[in-house]
Amino acid sequence: MHDDLIGLAPAATEPLTGYSDLDDVAMSGAAETFRAAMATRRTVRDFSDRAVPRAVIETCLAAAHRAPSGANQQPWHFAMVGDGAIKKRIRVAAEEEEQVFYRERAPREWLQALAPLGTDWRKPFLETAPWLIAVFGARHGIGPDGKRQKHYYVPESVCLASGFLLCALHHAGLATLTHTPSPMGFLNDILERPENEKPYLLIVAGHPASGCQVPAIKHKPLDAVTSWF
Ligand SMILES: Cc1cc2nc3c(=O)[nH]c(=O)nc-3n(C[C@H](O)[C@H](O)[C@H](O)COP(=O)(O)O)c2cc1C
Repeated sequence: MHDDLIGLAPAATEPLTGYSDLDDVAMSGAAETFRAAMATRRTVRDFSDRAVPRAVIETCLAAAHRAPSGANQQPWHFAMVGDGAIKKRIRVAAEEEEQVFYRERAPREWLQALAPLGTDWRKPFLETAPWLIAVFGARHGIGPDGKRQKHYYVPESVCLASGFLLCALHHAGLATLTHTPSPMGFLNDILERPENEKPYLLIVAGHPASGCQVPAIKHKPLDAVTSWF
């Protein structure tokens, strides 16, 4: 029992606003429109250097920031990199790790799983694409009193926000790559993030290069990953 919590003021509420009250037909249409839009999302590994306004990225981040999070703690940090010199440092560090990964660190089974994607240690897109977005999760926060504040469901929350971000970028007409150079502790050093933040993803965002090719891969059918009760 936590007797000290008894008698706390009840949580404040406010009216729910902004919900669209669609009938079933309109709902089906909206669901289908979104499904069709998401079906055109692909991971891109060949980017053009065409600039993307910072304001577009900011708006997409604002959408990501509205993701649900454990205990409403938003335990994420997004570090955006448009600066060429910093992108170069990230590329050099990522390629160093990836060379070792592909040469010796990755188990054979992992390399076999990656083979249909045609990836290797070379990551030129880390310099070509206009924006790199490093996503960090804060293992704990710092309270107003300077004390450590426990965070709950950090990986789940960070990945939900990242998913929102990928959708927002796609919706804005941008191509993305969800990149996980392994390991990626170098992102803390280069982007000056504190030790309590763990890097989760390096999202590459921009326009695809002209004539961009993507791996001819199939996704599992929906019924292979769903069950209904
Ligand atoms: C957690 C995660 C990590 C990934 N890491 C990499 C990566 O390091 N390099 C890469 O080229 N693709 C990476 N991908 C992209 C996947 O390979 C890609 O999503 C998958 O092949 C399906 O292709 P699609 O996104 O075009 O549907 C990653 C995706 C996820 C979700």
